[in-house]
Amino acid sequence: MDLLLRSLFQALGKSRTAHRLAKKYGLRLGAARFVAGESVRQAIEAVRKLNESGRMATLDHLGEFVFNEEEAEQAADMCIRTLDAIAESGVQSNLSLKMTSLGLDIDRKLCIGNMKRILDRARKYGNFVRIDMEDYAHCQATLDVYRELRRQYDNVGIVLQAYLYRTEQDVKDLHKLQANLRLVKGAYKEPASVAFPAKKDVDDNLARIIRLHLTNGNYTAIASHDEAIIDDAKRTVRELNVDRNAFEFQMLYGICDELQLRLVQEGYRVRVYVPYGTDWFGYFMRRLAERPANVWFVLRNLRGK
Ligand code: FDA
Repeated sequence: MDLLLRSLFQALGKSRTAHRLAKKYGLRLGAARFVAGESVRQAIEAVRKLNESGRMATLDHLGEFVFNEEEAEQAADMCIRTLDAIAESGVQSNLSLKMTSLGLDIDRKLCIGNMKRILDRARKYGNFVRIDMEDYAHCQATLDVYRELRRQYDNVGIVLQAYLYRTEQDVKDLHKLQANLRLVKGAYKEPASVAFPAKKDVDDNLARIIRLHLTNGNYTAIASHDEAIIDDAKRTVRELNVDRNAFEFQMLYGICDELQLRLVQEGYRVRVYVPYGTDWFGYFMRRLAERPANVWFVLRNLRGK
């Protein structure tokens, strides 16, 4: 049953019709638990609350399907507006974004141009931008863009996914660039030809690449709600004597709030990924696919309306 629901949510997340319908019905579908709001103002308010409890944030203006140059530029403008709003409000947050929303599928030069505009603005504010990793089909192109940008910018980082066979080698290769990496399990449906099919192998690989990147002395964002992974990372940083400012734990908005707060109390850096915007459907479907039990939460929410 779980497998069936997972596949259903993954397919819906890719469906343009479903995205259009969802926009019409707004965040009422239960997505409000995972998405901070549709406007920049609401997003900044959510970040302010997180900051009050000692958590930093990374804001993501949601948007996945981009069909032309104009839409890609508008998406970049929204990223810049978000950076402006962070600076104006004085909240503690950086920015996360996706290459496809900036035009990666349309024209690589367009995407790089958009990224440079965003990174220049972030640099002006002393802020940092993280490139999310999307499905395997975009992995190499995303890494290529990152490498090109990294030559000019030190305020850019990227995400690598432990479910991919290639990732351990990518972590080794990116050491040469002293890459700031967010390490995650991986959220997309990938075939066994490119990704570990067994969860245990993904978990083991995540623990392995966290250790590798920390051992290499590079900034590591450990992005997981899995307590076994978090405990293992704590043991690793103790053993390697890693400074607490050289890594951080990251979790998603609305997930494992108590665990986030516990880590803050223990003195760790904690950052929450805060998505916002009207194009929230694909993100919402990925959260349901990760944990089909969330569907009961959604149904309860709908019944209460
Ligand atoms: P796992 O899935 O094993 O979950 C461990 C426990 O966490 C569960 O038992 C449950 O208690 C809780 N949990 C996990 N997911 C939940 C959910 N959706 N709802 C409720 N509880 C949940 N992926 C990607 O492909 N590209 C990216 O760029 C990113 N970026 C990113 C940023 C940040 C800050 C995080 C935390 C995660 C991502 N991800 C991502 C998603 C990541 O790949 C992965 O899908 C999720 O983090 C779930 O995996 P866990 O490591 O939490 O473990």
